[in-house]
Amino acid sequence: MDVLIRPTAEVATTAADILAGYIRRGATLGLATGSTPTPTYRELIRRHAEEGLSFAACRAFLLDEYYGLPRDHEQSYYATIRRELTAHVDIDDALVASPDGTIPDYAAAAADYEERIAQAGGVDVQLLGVGTNGHVAFNEPGSSLASRTRLTTLHPQTVKDNARFFGSADDVPRHVLTQGLGTILEAGHLLLLATGHAKADAVRRLVEGPVSASCPASILQLHPNATVVVDEEAADDLGNAEYYRFIDDNALRG
Ligand code: GLP
Repeated sequence: MDVLIRPTAEVATTAADILAGYIRRGATLGLATGSTPTPTYRELIRRHAEEGLSFAACRAFLLDEYYGLPRDHEQSYYATIRRELTAHVDIDDALVASPDGTIPDYAAAAADYEERIAQAGGVDVQLLGVGTNGHVAFNEPGSSLASRTRLTTLHPQTVKDNARFFGSADDVPRHVLTQGLGTILEAGHLLLLATGHAKADAVRRLVEGPVSASCPASILQLHPNATVVVDEEAADDLGNAEYYRFIDDNALRG
């Protein structure tokens, strides 16, 4: 696992540098929602507008979706990713896929999503955030490390964390459709971003803690090509921060 510790403003540019390499090759992108990737999306939009970075040959899959929220609800992840990124670049909107949280048969919706990812040949690079309790996508603590796309129930902490998007905790849906940890592990490259001190404990557990369902993001330790980009505040609790900086400073680039 590569751990890159950067000033806050450089988290987005570092992530955009990595993603741009895939975008130029017309990759299948795994996109995340939440507030953490927003500056990275802004930087990609800027590169599209000012530097000609084209998404025309790319397609994209979202990690997760609220169950029962209409797609035109402003907090649906279907609407969010369009507002935050894809409406502002030249990706074909029909190729921006998300789990369909409006289908009553949620098991069928989950199976269909797995099938669509497989038919596309899998995800080349998966962008990830992390919840304060260590969740990735909506795989809450206790999720099987082998889990596939499915319906899950949000942790009360996640309901609380996401209340800011809905006005009140009561309005946050309790159920979601999420790619599983086993699904996410099949992406070619995992790129996890975290900023701010509130994520420091989750970052410590995912990078240095045991691989455990108690910290779903610790699956990154099982992946042969994982990059974690964090700011100084999110790196606060890392025991080996100096070593990660040493590796970074001595990286063989070329
Ligand atoms: C959300 C999303 C995750 C995201 C996480 C952190 O609930 N399902 O994909 O990574 O929580 O969100 P934020 O980046 O806003 O802290």
